Amino acid sequence: MSRPTVFVSRKLPEAAMAIIRRTCEVTLWPEEERPVPPNELVARLREADGALLMLSDRIDGAVLDAAGPRCRVIANMAVGYDNIDIAACTQRGVLVTNTPGVLTDTTADLAFALLMAAARRLGEGQRLIQADRWTGWSPMFMVGQEITGATIGIVGAGRIGQAVAKRAAGFDMRLLYHNRKPSADMAALGAEYRGLDDLLRESDFVVVLLPLSAETRGLFGEREFRLMKPTAVFVNAARGPIVQEGALYRALQEGWIWAAGLDVFAAEPIRADHPLLSLDNVTAVPHIGSATVQTRTRMATLAAENLVAVVTGGRPITPVNPQVLDQ
Ligand code: GLV
Ligand code: GLV
Repeated sequence: MSRPTVFVSRKLPEAAMAIIRRTCEVTLWPEEERPVPPNELVARLREADGALLMLSDRIDGAVLDAAGPRCRVIANMAVGYDNIDIAACTQRGVLVTNTPGVLTDTTADLAFALLMAAARRLGEGQRLIQADRWTGWSPMFMVGQEITGATIGIVGAGRIGQAVAKRAAGFDMRLLYHNRKPSADMAALGAEYRGLDDLLRESDFVVVLLPLSAETRGLFGEREFRLMKPTAVFVNAARGPIVQEGALYRALQEGWIWAAGLDVFAAEPIRADHPLLSLDNVTAVPHIGSATVQTRTRMATLAAENLVAVVTGGRPITPVNPQVLDQ
């Protein structure tokens, strides 16, 4: 049997490329900084038995139909898969895999780092020094919000939400969480369940760790920010479109809430003239939740193993739509 051909949409760490090359012919999108354009993606999928893609690559029914029937698996190098229309893939018998588990702690670390940076004004402080506006010490200069002992409200009780709860417990925080349904794991960590409105009213820190779906798109708007405390810090390390950015801008500018730490934005990458960046009380980083050498290598390796398993006739480790395997 001839070796399967697979398309890989970004250069991966060598450990992951080696896994793929052992059994497959690889075509690689050669540009490291620029995602493969949509028409080019279709052309590559047409010639491939499977593809390893990034969250910047969009897959829907139209793309799959244009690409034709050859490609049987999309291995997404991310835990989130809102870039892929799963129903459209399932309908066409295309298996989708993601990378859960391997990035949980790393992403929780970044969420907690943003919480701390926003509460203690780290980005603003650095910008102040760089602008040569540090004139001396004074009692209420650059005062932030206390973290130890504060109340954190975690929205989303998945793996990453639980890992954030563990970190918060180490800071003696009172733990609240909201989720579609109560979570025994969260309860075991000492977190109390709240309806979303009550969580927003009671929390000093609101940390969003939900997947993006039809249910969560635009979940945080004017009403939600107005329910929060004027001293509240809002952290989004999940997906940008969960937040209505215009409402968040007003909340921060008009003092409905105190600060925000953001890893994700409605349309990425954002440019330097994005309105949120004009606010001193915004700490922004460029979607780096899982970005450590170790974790990105693990994600690439897991995605590679999933891809190779499917194109060589085996079962993937972490399928999103396993029902395709039984079709
Ligand atoms: C990153 O945002 C991921 O979903 O892995
Ligand atoms: C992702 O792994 C999550 O469940 O939060």
